Amino acid sequence: MLTGKKLAVVGVGKLGEALISGLLKKGELKIGDITGSVGHESSIARVKERLGIESSLDNRQVVKGKDIVLLAVKPQNMDLVVRELNDVLTEDQLLVSVAASVTTAFVQERLDKPIAVVRAMPNTPSLMNAGMTGLCSGAHAGEKDKKMAEEIFKCVGRTVFVDESLMDGVTALSASGPAYLYVIIESLAEAGVKLGIPRDVSTLLAAQTMYGAASMVLESKAHPALLKDSVTTPAGCTIDGLMELEEGKLRVTLIKAVVKAAERARELVNTQNSKK
Ligand SMILES: NC(=O)c1ccc[n+]([C@@H]2O[C@H](COP(=O)([O-])OP(=O)(O)OC[C@H]3O[C@@H](n4cnc5c(N)ncnc54)[C@H](OP(=O)(O)O)[C@@H]3O)[C@@H](O)[C@H]2O)c1
Repeated sequence: MLTGKKLAVVGVGKLGEALISGLLKKGELKIGDITGSVGHESSIARVKERLGIESSLDNRQVVKGKDIVLLAVKPQNMDLVVRELNDVLTEDQLLVSVAASVTTAFVQERLDKPIAVVRAMPNTPSLMNAGMTGLCSGAHAGEKDKKMAEEIFKCVGRTVFVDESLMDGVTALSASGPAYLYVIIESLAEAGVKLGIPRDVSTLLAAQTMYGAASMVLESKAHPALLKDSVTTPAGCTIDGLMELEEGKLRVTLIKAVVKAAERARELVNTQNSKK
């Protein structure tokens, strides 16, 4: 679906790089199909060296005539950048924004034409092609626009469309989620160290176990509780470990962590929207 399309990436930073790299590796787009823009002159050489694509400081020039414009600048730069692009963007272009907490309405209110806008919330494992991206569409985006936007993020992992009202939840769960899971991996590795296992071996055991458990959930499609039961032999050792987790309130702590992060994401949305 992306074949032959021209893509402009406004803000080729960490995420922009990961997405461009995924698109090129999957062969969805060729180097000549992608142009980038950056905030500093020195970044032009970095982009050329790491991705092979041309970039410039001129956002307006970069987006002209492109089929898809991916906005990957920091949320605090979005107001300025969208206003700057307003009069060069056209109704046949698709605008995809990855800026955290920036709503499709925020973008659309700064455009004087009914341009299709899709908002996406990827996560850092996108750098390893194991990303999870939640997407939602703005008022003027049709099915074709949604599919096209989704294709970009499929190059770096899995995707799911949700209603925009759920994007704070997506942010709190899958975008912040790696941080919670790193804490769990780190803690399991510490446990191994406590039991005399060298730290590097312990970290490998913990990380690969988390990866394997996640693969079981994704591939078998079985409920996690059933998978947990299949590991838990009556009167075995796993049930003793699970009892400790229950006593330490791991479940409720994780639920509260995600709910709290979603509340914060909502606050950030309101902050962004109040800066009109
Ligand atoms: N990193 C993630 O995993 C992740 C996940 C979900 C969503 N996001 C969202 O993705 C966006 C980018 O995040 P990031 O981590 O990639 O940040 P980043 O590494 O700081 O990248 C931002 C890029 O924007 C460029 N830039 C700054 N001002 C610009 C302007 N006026 N015009 C054009 N380019 C400009 C910067 O150029 P210079 O390098 O030259 O300064 C930089 O390359 C953010 O909105 C963030 O919320 C990121």
